Amino acid sequence: METRSQWGTRAGFIMAAVGSAIGLGNIWRFPAVAYENGGGAFFIPYLFALLTAGIPILILEFTMGHKYRGSAPLTYRKISKKSEWIGWWQVLIAFVISTYYSVIIAWAISYSVFSFNLNWGDDTESFLFNDYLNLAAPGELGGLVPGVFIPLIIVWIAVLGILFKGVKKGIEVANRIFIPALVIIFLIIVIRAVTLPGALEGLDAFFTPDFSNILNPDVWVAAYGQIFFSLSIAFAIMITYSSYLPKKSDITNNAFITGFANSGFELLCGIGVFAVLGFMATQQGVAVDEVVAGGVGLAFVVFPQIINQFPALNELFGFLFFASLVLAGLTSLISITETYVAGLVDKFKISRNKAVLYGGGLAAIISLLFATRGGLNFLDTVDYFINQFGIAFVGLVEVIVIAWFFRKLGQFKSHANDISDIRLGSWWTISLSVITPIVLGYTMYGLFKQNLLKEFPTDNGNYGNYPDSFIFSVGWIVAIAVIIVGILISFTKWKSSNSEQIENESREVK
Ligand code: ALA
Repeated sequence: METRSQWGTRAGFIMAAVGSAIGLGNIWRFPAVAYENGGGAFFIPYLFALLTAGIPILILEFTMGHKYRGSAPLTYRKISKKSEWIGWWQVLIAFVISTYYSVIIAWAISYSVFSFNLNWGDDTESFLFNDYLNLAAPGELGGLVPGVFIPLIIVWIAVLGILFKGVKKGIEVANRIFIPALVIIFLIIVIRAVTLPGALEGLDAFFTPDFSNILNPDVWVAAYGQIFFSLSIAFAIMITYSSYLPKKSDITNNAFITGFANSGFELLCGIGVFAVLGFMATQQGVAVDEVVAGGVGLAFVVFPQIINQFPALNELFGFLFFASLVLAGLTSLISITETYVAGLVDKFKISRNKAVLYGGGLAAIISLLFATRGGLNFLDTVDYFINQFGIAFVGLVEVIVIAWFFRKLGQFKSHANDISDIRLGSWWTISLSVITPIVLGYTMYGLFKQNLLKEFPTDNGNYGNYPDSFIFSVGWIVAIAVIIVGILISFTKWKSSNSEQIENESREVK
């Protein structure tokens, strides 16, 4: 039997898991999501989702990967023939995410370079949409944008180069360098941010609780969505990474360390971002809510404006901020891409190098779509749909299938307890079998109703106010296609030696 790649050290695994978790989701998604959904009050659904879904699912996925020692499809296949498709569904979600995540890192590379001369000028919005992206109307492609295409090639060369080197020499080494560098850079940024004039007003806006929406299902979906995306759970990553753990490994403690490191960093990002927003609002003599923006707007429009107004070392801080986006993004993209590399190796028994070349190569080619003049419109829509109807939905399916259909929680709990410092109590089983299915199920139901049944036929309330035809053709097709293609791949045959191994091992572990 072939030996599976392994992490060199426990710290190496933790660093890689934290590297996967900390990403663009922490830096640009979290501050805006938290602010828009009630500021200080958002911490209630956020902490609830972290403690009853995020960390329990992380423990579940670490256990599954460690026990079955396979990519997500192989792991689900070993649980049952009937569930292999869930593994592919998760891998395909990761595949789709990698195609646009890489493009955002490419923008950040360009902006790191622009920082040297503050090339974005005074009108940073017009610079982003007109000068840099040369944005076309929704649905139009409009040719490749060279300023995005070139850094995108660099991103893929870096990521695939690291993956070619393997788990220990490639992924582990890269994370051991990138993550400490990221933490140091970010601490410098946050210390500078909180000492700027007006920082306190920003923090005040961020932390002041607004309880008026606390019972709104949208706020809860936002909290779950944030936790799932940010912790890299429910899209094959943590199962894949933990499949490279040596037999003697801690599970539960590693999951707590990863979960709290990620949320700690996320909080630090919120503090840094709102401190500088407070600074900018004070400079302009306006309220903080007038300068806040989410996603693309926050990182590539508002931040360059803030950097223009910095009291000193503007170029340096501009560079540090965009470099931190690049580092955080790369360590996550490596983990996202590894999910399908591992899936291809396991199912089709091809070499790792071939899997990196075919899987990564295909993702790189598809990512060119997002490097066109119309790319941002596609990116925005695909990102929304793959998150809400991809990750959150497959996360719900995952817990229901494992807890209720295959009734595996008892077995998994003993497996984790046998090798971990911290013993799992009934809170873990209850969180996964009762709390998460009920709360997430209820909120997902609300979201489906809102997007699919009620508001879909009209133009009002569609995400981003894009036309229905565009939302339908891009958003829904992608979200549904990953399920259908996942089912189709699960019908294809495993390469012979793998199928024998699966039969033997599933008998052993059952
Ligand atoms: N967990 C990664 C992020 O937060 C995907 O960006």
